Amino acid sequence: MNKNGTMWLDTDGNPIQAHGGMIEKFDGIYYWYGENKAGETVLKENGLHRVDFIGFSCYSSADCISWKNEGLVLKASDQPGSPLHKSRVGERPKVLYNEKSRKYVMWFHLDSHDYMTAHTGVAVADRPTGPFQFVREMCPNRFDSRDMTLFKDTDGKAYLIYSSDWNKTLRIAQLTDDYLDVNGVYSHAFPEQEREAPAIFIKDGLYYMITSGCTGWEPNNALFGISHNIFSGWKLIGDPCTGENARQTYFGQSTYVFEKDGRHYLMLDHWNPSNLKESGYSILPVRADNGHLTVSFQEYTSL
Ligand code: DGJ
Repeated sequence: MNKNGTMWLDTDGNPIQAHGGMIEKFDGIYYWYGENKAGETVLKENGLHRVDFIGFSCYSSADCISWKNEGLVLKASDQPGSPLHKSRVGERPKVLYNEKSRKYVMWFHLDSHDYMTAHTGVAVADRPTGPFQFVREMCPNRFDSRDMTLFKDTDGKAYLIYSSDWNKTLRIAQLTDDYLDVNGVYSHAFPEQEREAPAIFIKDGLYYMITSGCTGWEPNNALFGISHNIFSGWKLIGDPCTGENARQTYFGQSTYVFEKDGRHYLMLDHWNPSNLKESGYSILPVRADNGHLTVSFQEYTSL
């Protein structure tokens, strides 16, 4: 049985390669998308550990406990000049279903190897298991974009939430009806607070956003904010984590909040900077009530 804070295995007994990922239910099945980091970790001149871009994996599950490998749903490219070239950075893939087009739309952080380009990538598929076709690389609303997530609101409108202004401020951009682009309506949250790894959800009409600080692959303390409106009034509240190692987010970093049977769960990455393919995961219950938010570290088996 997979244990929180450790590497997880799929139904074939292989390590799950779905880092910086997300879990959503499409047509009664849970899908987990994330970064495949099953390559060699190298330390670059700039002091950053990296694995060449391999692509994004997908795993499926009926119970959210055992995960079947569905393979790479978007692959990096060997072609020089390709936006998906293996020498680049592809991180934090997130997928939404678009009811109108009946397509699955993926957004992700797409960057140069040194994180100086700071763009977003978009891809689309007919099925949750892909293959996803690359649509575009962009600088959403002309702002730099690094860590990011997607959020689909209760009215079907979708948003890209991304670390911008050199990670100083989070920006919130509304997507076009087909989710393939931004529509030019945007706002921001937590200016000058240097937050990344955003994970957002709504409960009882209140939006909650959990973020990490900016310390590369090293853990730091999570903070959450709330707002009655996705575009304005975001208020930073405090650290939602409780108990031992709460100040280091249990040595993990937020990546997504998903809902299962009416309850919310926070996904964490436990990065292993010198061997990124051996990074672990946690799925932790989230208690959100009237602007209060708590996360506690407990075994996933007890959920
Ligand atoms: C922190 C981000 O949250 C990760 O996704 C990754 O980009 C690392 N920085 C790289 O140092």
